[in-house]
Formats: sequence, structure tokens, C-alpha cells
Amino acid sequence: MKTVFSGLKPTGEMTIGNYLGAIKHWPLSQSKDNRTIFFVPNSHALTVRQSPEDIKTRTLDLVAWLLTAGIEPSKSIILVQSMVPAHAELFWILDNYVTMGELSRMTQFKDKSQKLGPEGQLVGLFNYPVLMAADILLYDSNEVPVGEDQVQHVELTRDIANRFNKLYGETFVLPKATIPNYGGRVMSLDNPSVKMSKSDHPDSYVALGESAESVVNKFKRAVTDSDTQIRYNKSEKPAISNLMEIYAGFSGMSLEEIENKYEGIGYGEFKNDLGELTAEKLSSLQKDFEKYRSNEIGLMSIIEEGSQKASAIANKKLSEVKNKIGLL
Ligand code: TRP
Repeated sequence: MKTVFSGLKPTGEMTIGNYLGAIKHWPLSQSKDNRTIFFVPNSHALTVRQSPEDIKTRTLDLVAWLLTAGIEPSKSIILVQSMVPAHAELFWILDNYVTMGELSRMTQFKDKSQKLGPEGQLVGLFNYPVLMAADILLYDSNEVPVGEDQVQHVELTRDIANRFNKLYGETFVLPKATIPNYGGRVMSLDNPSVKMSKSDHPDSYVALGESAESVVNKFKRAVTDSDTQIRYNKSEKPAISNLMEIYAGFSGMSLEEIENKYEGIGYGEFKNDLGELTAEKLSSLQKDFEKYRSNEIGLMSIIEEGSQKASAIANKKLSEVKNKIGLL
């Protein structure tokens, strides 16, 4: 049996990038042979200032999106980080098995601290990969499906686990990041060299909750490459390749099938079809989302039950760790 574990931060509106690159793939690992655990790392959201109301709302939004994507509470454990205190406890312990140097080399921290310099950054932002390591290691996770930007953090998690195991004997399972073949990094619609992000210009991303009209318009305005062919080539044709990945993600077609379908057809028509396809998929997802999201009592009972199950697993691992290092 292997354990598959992942989560998504509730820091902003969800985009099609979060869906195609992450949560859409998670339900596929639900099977009798796997233990699947999905969580909302709401404590991670504290590294970005947002109102208490927003954190709460977005946490429940995310749980509803997980259910919409097909994660079933009867097959997977769904938990909320702050409801399982073992995450914070192991985090502190692991902080003492990782160096400032290692954390300084994390590209996400380097990118995020570039504007203001490291001096003014919150320690939480610096430390954040260690909390992530605690999340992963508490559950003996074998596979961690993530987007490309998180691979480095999973590798750091392996290093920390390995170091700890060498000092105290086998304690942690070494996790492996798994990334989708494509769709793992949906890029901005107005600049295919940066990742799609809700903190950029509204024209650059499509939110999961967006109206059909707005979706179609955004794809119409999406940048394309200089020639006219619908052909997948990430380095030579980054813009159209990105749009093709989105098309593949929503249609289930392969990139090759898309190339064949659009042979001799121009960008305009392709972008129009893509807009309509995406709008149609989103509208059906939005209906499911509303159904789950409007039942807040139902959502709370799912996460209470999930967090209880998770605590049982996590507390066992935490006790083992505390025992080994001499904490009463
Ligand atoms: N760091 C991830 C992100 O920003 C979220 C996350 C936190 C996570 N802990 C995790 C993902 C553990 C996978 C496993 O999206």
C-alpha cells in the first residue's frame, strides 16, 4: 500500500491552473491499494496577510473544490492543517534538522523575497518548507503530487527525513514528488513565461468561479506565438503550447489529437473553441461546487471527521519522533 498526500494553500481565488495542475489529478489515485490524504494547509496561508474572514472562507471553498474534483470522504482522508496540532509540533522539531543555508536556497523564497530583500521577510515565509515537510512526513507519504514549483520543497523534505533517519534510525518514509505529464504548470494567458497566478493582471488568469462570457473573452485576448500553426512545442511556441495544454486538460484529448483536429485552422478559431470548452466545463464544475459549498454543516462534518482520522495517524508518528529525540 502506498500513501498519496497533497494539499493546496487557501490564499486566493482558485484558477484553472490549480485545477488542471493539481486537484483534477488527485482523485485518480483513490483506490483500495492506496491510502489517499488531501488537506488544506491553512496555517501556510498566514505567510500572506489576509483577513481572518478570507482565510476561513477560502478554507471551506477549497474543501468544496476538492469534493467537486471527485475526492470522496469515504475513500480519502480530507483534513485541515490547523485542526491537527501535530503538524505544528513536528514543524518545530524539524526546524532543528534543517539549516538557514538550505532554506535560503529555496527558489520560491528567493523569488518572493526579491522585491523587498530578505531582511523584511516574515520568518514564516522562510520557514514554510519545513512546515510542509512536517505535513508530508507525519503520514508516511510515498507520493506527493504537486506542481513543478513545489518539487524543490519535496526534495528538501526527503533530505530532512533522510538526515533524521540516519541520526535516530528508520522513522520517516522518503517521499517522492509526482508531477502531471502536462498541465503541471499552466502559464499566464498574457505572458507564457510566467506561471498563471491570481495575483497578476485579471486578463492573465481564469478563475474557477468565472462567468462563461468572461472566460471566452479572456481566451480571445490570450497572446499567441508569431507563426500560425497549432503545434505543441514548449520552447518555440510557448503561448500556443500553454493553450493546448489547457485544451487537453478540459477535453481529455491528447496534444496530438488536438494538433490533428486543428490542422490548417487559425489561432482565432482555436482560441474561440478553447474559450467555449473551458466555459462549459467550468459551468458544470461551478454547479457541483455550489452544491457542496452551500452546505457548510456538511463541510464542517467532513473536515472534523477527516481531521480526527488524520490526528490518529499523525499523533502516532509524532510520539515516535518525540521518543527518539528525548522529548517527554
Ligand atoms: N506549499 C504548497 C503550495 O504552496 C502547499 C503545501 C503545504 C503542500 N504543505 C504541503 C503541498 C504538503 C503538498 C504537500 O501549494
